[in-house]
Amino acid sequence: MSETKRALAVLVFLLSVSVLVTTPSTSATETFVFGGCSQLKYAPGSPYESNVNSLLTSAVNSAMSTSYNNFTISGSSSSSSQDTVYGLFQCRGDLNGNDCGRCVARAVSQLGTLCVDSFGGALQLEGCFVKYDNSKFLGVEDKTVVVKKCGPSIGYDSDALTRRDAVLAYLGTSDGSNRPYRVGGSGDVRGEAQCVGDLSASECQDCLSEAIGRLKTECGPAAWGDMFLAKCYARYSEGGSHSRSGNGENDSNNNDEEIEKTLAILIGLIAGVALLIVFLSCLRKICEKGKGGK
Ligand SMILES: *[C@@H]1O[C@H](CO)[C@@H](O)[C@H](O)[C@H]1NC(C)=O
Ligand SMILES: *[C@@H]1O[C@H](CO)[C@@H](O)[C@H](O)[C@H]1NC(C)=O
Repeated sequence: MSETKRALAVLVFLLSVSVLVTTPSTSATETFVFGGCSQLKYAPGSPYESNVNSLLTSAVNSAMSTSYNNFTISGSSSSSSQDTVYGLFQCRGDLNGNDCGRCVARAVSQLGTLCVDSFGGALQLEGCFVKYDNSKFLGVEDKTVVVKKCGPSIGYDSDALTRRDAVLAYLGTSDGSNRPYRVGGSGDVRGEAQCVGDLSASECQDCLSEAIGRLKTECGPAAWGDMFLAKCYARYSEGGSHSRSGNGENDSNNNDEEIEKTLAILIGLIAGVALLIVFLSCLRKICEKGKGGK
């Protein structure tokens, strides 16, 4: 009896763990896109470290109320200028304050594990970008390609490609105003572009033109494409052609499906383990009975 009870207790425990594991703790906006750290490391416990920490804390706090902010932290007036750290965050233009705050908090926590003791780090999640460094990069345009991803080809004379080009043309259009976040769609093609808020309107325009031009030349007739430059990105996808999250209703469905799949696999595993435990404890009982009989 006690063996069965023990097995049941284990089953209940594993089930509750599985519920915790499968409860979606990360939404699509917190999906990792890229991250990187500078090679140079600072000495742990240095004034620079405490400046980095206070910068990242300020970013998390600020992200609740604004979608972009920049920071320059030089600590106490006595510390030298080489301890100065510069940083910024940029949330995707469609996020509300809560989602922006959550996204930046997550990005900062990931930077903390990814870039231990690094002088600089940058991390892009679907919904936000966070960067800090000891060199002054604020307000400096930077069109370095950071991440380029292209989907499978859909052929040069497809209607979808015509719509893709229309969406990209729309994203790249300048109306003279400052539009750091742009979104457009045609049919099932959806496009999105975002500049980091330290760029001027014309720098943003220039950066997005570069990203969009690269998407067209380097991805060719791809079903979807991502072009992340250091200070802006442009991306597009055809409905359902890209399992990447964050691009419309279909993705939340994919997400749910994925969670359901994970749950199914976990429950299968747990049932298997529980059966094994019951089986083993029965075996032991049989053995014990066998011994007792002789
Ligand atoms: C940095 O933020 C300040 C306000 O906090 C703003 O006045 C300034 O223009 C920003 N600089 C850049 C490069 O974004
Ligand atoms: C999902 O994508 C397909 C195209 O692949 C589209 O026909 C359908 O309407 C989309 N569903 C939702 C809920 O957006």
